[in-house]
Amino acid sequence: MSDFEKFKDKLIKAKSSQEVETIRAEIFGKNGLINLEFKKIGSLPQEDRKKVSSEINNIKQELTKLINEAAAKLLDSEINKQVEREIDDVTLPEKDFKIGKIHPVSQVIDEISSIFSEIGFSVEEGPDIETEYYNFTALNTPENHPAKDMHDTFYIEENMKTLLRTHTSPVQVRTMLKGKPPFKIIAPGRTYRSDSDQTHTPMFHQLEGLHIDKNITMGHLKGCLNYFVKEFFEVDKIKMRFRPSHFPFTEPSAEVDIGYRIENNKIVIGEGDKWLEILGCGMVHPNVLKNSKIDSNKYQGFAFGIGIDRLAMLKYGINDLRSFFECDYRWLNYYGFDPLDVPTNYRGLSK
Ligand code: PHE
Repeated sequence: MSDFEKFKDKLIKAKSSQEVETIRAEIFGKNGLINLEFKKIGSLPQEDRKKVSSEINNIKQELTKLINEAAAKLLDSEINKQVEREIDDVTLPEKDFKIGKIHPVSQVIDEISSIFSEIGFSVEEGPDIETEYYNFTALNTPENHPAKDMHDTFYIEENMKTLLRTHTSPVQVRTMLKGKPPFKIIAPGRTYRSDSDQTHTPMFHQLEGLHIDKNITMGHLKGCLNYFVKEFFEVDKIKMRFRPSHFPFTEPSAEVDIGYRIENNKIVIGEGDKWLEILGCGMVHPNVLKNSKIDSNKYQGFAFGIGIDRLAMLKYGINDLRSFFECDYRWLNYYGFDPLDVPTNYRGLSK
């Protein structure tokens, strides 16, 4: 049966699964090769019929196997090619805006920026990867200060000259070196310390504030922070205390705590008996002004560093800081914000 060899050759050369299906019809169709061969049997002598029909059956089996193999192989590569072609078109418009949520940390950064921009602060930025000089030395931090210890600071190089900034305070110096006084800026961003428990994570967020001008006093600092805290928590009165503290880059220095209580496993801001530290502040040290090329006899001012994550926990009743960074979509769906709900002071920050 020479036709058999002809079809075998055709199958090997077939380029698409469709071509294989055409060949399948030519072989097994009503007027196909196999049927024609079977029809011929009737005209054969009786004694040959059995032998020929078993031959045809063998050929039939072999061709079926060959066809199925060729079809499977070609179909497989066709599907792969199609998958490669069908890339998601990310430029298509979004249909459901409610799918994504804004993380509470992003929301709180927007809220804080909105509050400070109302009273004339502009936004600055600094690098996450800092030099030892800007993070410590320029900020009047002594060589043997405990904050410089490996336990607290993530150093990037063994010579300890570059590090992940431990606070946003280096932006103070960078800003002052860049321009001329007066300065009235805030600088939100990521900060890093080797620490982890319910209220500490190795990466966290701070917002630096700096106001340098002639005749700025501690009174301005207190007034500014009081205004901020009330605006942020959207209340007329808030339990707040200034505790004397120490930072190498401010003199005098203070830490500010906010009163709260826990109710049904949630944080409630107000008249509680617990205190949570939310920021450090003080009058900028003359040495920092000197390192920033500012004449401290003419200019002075205050600086503060706010823990953004802590504020988000307090305001939105979240009691474990670590959950902020676990990337659990269910958590974000519950605590997150509508992307179109941009905070403004006029409309009320969180409604
Ligand atoms: N940088 C300090 C900290 O991270 C906070 C601070 C900022 C204190 C500015 C005083 C002035 O704890």
